[in-house]
Amino acid sequence: MPHAHLLVVDDEPSILTTLQKALTLEGYSVDVAGGVRIADEKLKKRSYDLCLFDVQLPDGDGLSLLAQIRAAKNEVPVIMMSGHATIDTAVKATRLGALNFLEKPINTDALLIAVETTLRLQRAETEARELRVATGATGELVGESGPIKKLVEQIARAAKSSASVLVTGERGTGKELVARAIHQLSPRAKGPLEKLNCAALPSELIESELFGHEAGAFTGATKQRRGKFERASGGTLFLDEVGDMPLPMQAKLLRVLQEREIERVGGSETIKVDTRVVAATNRDLVKACESDVFRADLYDRLNVVPLHIPPLRARREDVPLLARHFLELASKANDRPGMRIEDDALQVLVAYSFPGNVRELRNLTERLVILTPDDVIRAADVRNCLPGGGSPKAQGLYRPGVPFRVLVEESERQILQDALAHHGGQMAATARALDLERSHLYKKARALGLRGDGKSDEDDAGS
Ligand SMILES: Nc1ncnc2c1ncn2[C@@H]1O[C@H](COP(=O)(O)OP(=O)(O)OP(=O)(O)O)[C@@H](O)[C@H]1O
Ligand SMILES: [Mg+2]
Repeated sequence: MPHAHLLVVDDEPSILTTLQKALTLEGYSVDVAGGVRIADEKLKKRSYDLCLFDVQLPDGDGLSLLAQIRAAKNEVPVIMMSGHATIDTAVKATRLGALNFLEKPINTDALLIAVETTLRLQRAETEARELRVATGATGELVGESGPIKKLVEQIARAAKSSASVLVTGERGTGKELVARAIHQLSPRAKGPLEKLNCAALPSELIESELFGHEAGAFTGATKQRRGKFERASGGTLFLDEVGDMPLPMQAKLLRVLQEREIERVGGSETIKVDTRVVAATNRDLVKACESDVFRADLYDRLNVVPLHIPPLRARREDVPLLARHFLELASKANDRPGMRIEDDALQVLVAYSFPGNVRELRNLTERLVILTPDDVIRAADVRNCLPGGGSPKAQGLYRPGVPFRVLVEESERQILQDALAHHGGQMAATARALDLERSHLYKKARALGLRGDGKSDEDDAGS
């Protein structure tokens, strides 16, 4: 446990001495105060990781001290101590945000355990919150265009209720990001967020993933397993690519959404669930309903709150903001601080159509950070990175009829060729820059017919 600074407030000098000694022995730094006034002064002077307040003090009481610091927006965790605690005081203290209540005479072991547990909980919570801010919620939803502002408002509103949300938008528009934001901004944020990709699994597997199974339900089901619906109870279930869910599963999902209870595969017991569903798809579900590949009644159930994310080309004013945002992330991740992008270069990006939407912009920016030799990204660098040099007719990496394996190989070869050229053919530097094992880079380069100078063996054949 990292170092912590504590404040103990009690009117009895002998108690102060005992507690200070016990806590100091455990490695904490401890300040003491004999009354409200001194405690108040100390609390104003520095921030503490934890406070211990006696209830009865000569110049006031611990409860009003607690109320006072909370009113001043001080969220320091507080443990109350009292010799004649009534239920009433304990309830009051808890309402004011005291985390624990210790009976006097204080048992030192109980005290140390309470202190350690409280500090640990507090740290875990702070870390979780910091992680949330760093990785997501709407903090990360970059954009100032009309559609994005509207979307952010809709997310905030949707987050308040438990109604089903259907997020639609082309691939790479940020549907998953939006789904996560809804969860994180909702009262369920402390509950679990479970995700199921409905396109990735065959019908039977989706069923056991969603609803769980009992031991012996099918071959291989050796143990009972809870499904995502059950695990997400009290939280949110994100059903990704819901448009690809097979029809038989759609019927089962509909039933669960109506009844709010599930049955595990091979089980007979019904289990109540309190799971909020957020679904996403890049398919046109209205059309899918018309052609009977998606159930209209399920669509209605999922689409209680519709959230549509427009494609990036329909909100081009967001491109510079997003590009700068991703540039910052990528230059941090690749240890290239101080990278910047010229306005002309941004204009090339703004003019591009981004069939892969925000994800494509993100990948592109990352590529630019890695491949651009200077600290400045110019228009020419961007054009070089865009398929077909950024011309409006530009093709993606996909070419009909060419196997996936070949397309991937071509891209890999291109990346390695560029990277090796950038580092003057030096394997070690290239491996470092790409975060690859050197031996792996060697193997890869050989397999792709590349040499250290970035040329292919064929290039050499003629010269
Ligand atoms: N408005 C935004 N601000 C910041 N980052 C964004 C934004 N929109 C999308 N992204 C980023 O773009 C990438 C793609 O987003 P996401 O995976 O949510 O898209 P998606 O719509 O679920 O895509 P797919 O349909 O392919 O599953 C992610 O890295 C995400 O963080
Ligand atoms: Mg997605």
